[in-house]
Amino acid sequence: MANGHPHDDAPFSALGRIGTPPPDLDAAPPQMRPTRPLATSPEPPPPPETESARHRALPPARGDLRIGIIGTGGMAAAHAENFQRQTGCRLESCLDIDAAAAKAFASRFAIPHQAKDVTDLIRRCDAVAVVTPDATHAEFVLAALRNNRHVLCEKPLTSSMVDAKRIARAWREAKGRGVIGMVNFSYRCAAAMHHAAWLHGEGRIGQLRHVTAQYFQGWLSETHEPAGGALWRLRRASGGGVIADLGCHLLDLVTAVAGPVRRIHCITSNFPKVARDGKPFTAWQGKPLDADDSAVITVEFAAGGLGVLQVSRWATGRQNTIRADFHGTRGALVFDLDHSYDQVHHHEAEHKAWRTDHPSAAPSTWQRFVQAIRDGRCDQPDLARGVEIQSYLDAAMHSAEKGGWIEIEAG
Ligand SMILES: NC(=O)c1ccc[n+]([C@@H]2O[C@H](COP(=O)([O-])OP(=O)(O)OC[C@H]3O[C@@H](n4cnc5c(N)ncnc54)[C@H](O)[C@@H]3O)[C@@H](O)[C@H]2O)c1
Repeated sequence: MANGHPHDDAPFSALGRIGTPPPDLDAAPPQMRPTRPLATSPEPPPPPETESARHRALPPARGDLRIGIIGTGGMAAAHAENFQRQTGCRLESCLDIDAAAAKAFASRFAIPHQAKDVTDLIRRCDAVAVVTPDATHAEFVLAALRNNRHVLCEKPLTSSMVDAKRIARAWREAKGRGVIGMVNFSYRCAAAMHHAAWLHGEGRIGQLRHVTAQYFQGWLSETHEPAGGALWRLRRASGGGVIADLGCHLLDLVTAVAGPVRRIHCITSNFPKVARDGKPFTAWQGKPLDADDSAVITVEFAAGGLGVLQVSRWATGRQNTIRADFHGTRGALVFDLDHSYDQVHHHEAEHKAWRTDHPSAAPSTWQRFVQAIRDGRCDQPDLARGVEIQSYLDAAMHSAEKGGWIEIEAG
């Protein structure tokens, strides 16, 4: 049943595929439907660029790509390993507010430089991976974009629509200068999703009528006090909460197949946590564990049809379970990543039968990111896609707080 690291939402079992050659992207099904552009609001003037970066040209598409990693916790190791596996990538610098953590990380991955701040890191690197808690992503992404550094940001892009719009604006400008910006929706390595999107795009299940999807985890319900660093996921102050943490992956997978969402309704619950001695455990580092633990998100798709998406940290007995069922007028599609990343069950109403398709493996986001830099052409999921998903997360949280349906802002 388990296919994930107990302290992570990354598909660690899938990381093994990184060594496999990427499929021919031209021959593969369309990766994504086009994302909606989002309206942006006025923002404060950008901070000054670092002196050394201001006139620096973007790195050549060939030659060693110097990578800097910001945040050196659990997920950063997956970034380090994945970048190290790719030819022509060199880990150059790392940064963490916890200097001891950064030192240990630098030594583990033989990274020559430990940066004292983001300016120091950016000065030495061509590309930056942002792997800090969600609420801190925006400052690092904006610093990278404004200094012409390629950036791969962890999911979700930010923890608020205000920050997402600031990124959207900086991204539009940086993209024009050739900067690659992507978000690590890591389940893009699931060929099943791409194949399902292609089948639906080809009209093989007709008009979409109903979608059910789940992302279930149980590991953060079992124990709280010893969970240490993982506890930021349970605090609103760090951008935590199951809607953001797991919901972003599920919304990315579902809308990649079903297309954009028109409106969202959501209900959530926050459950009591218990310390090792059995007493209530309500705060970590002085901030309450007040984020959503479980959510039921109902969506209406722009093209019609309804969806019910469930995300929970309280799915006891589940380590990392993702499944989606798409029902249309002519058939149905099902993928279950707990079972396989490379299988889609396809029901054709015409033949009244299920069959199983086995699409070939899809590249990871790290592979896409590096290839995009080499090609000088951004791939999905890009930062605009990150902003789109953020608009869904924001709407779900807003609905959970105020009640009722939330229309998605027109782009
Ligand atoms: N794509 C995936 O499947 C996946 C899986 C796990 C985590 N993530 C994402 O990765 C990010 C990090 O998660 P994690 O599990 O590694 O968390 P973590 O708590 O293990 O590590 C976070 C690290 O960031 C450091 N940090 C915090 N604030 C910082 C700041 N302002 N400047 C520099 N360093 C700072 C912390 O000291 C810590 O070392 C999150 O955005 C999370 O959602 C993604």
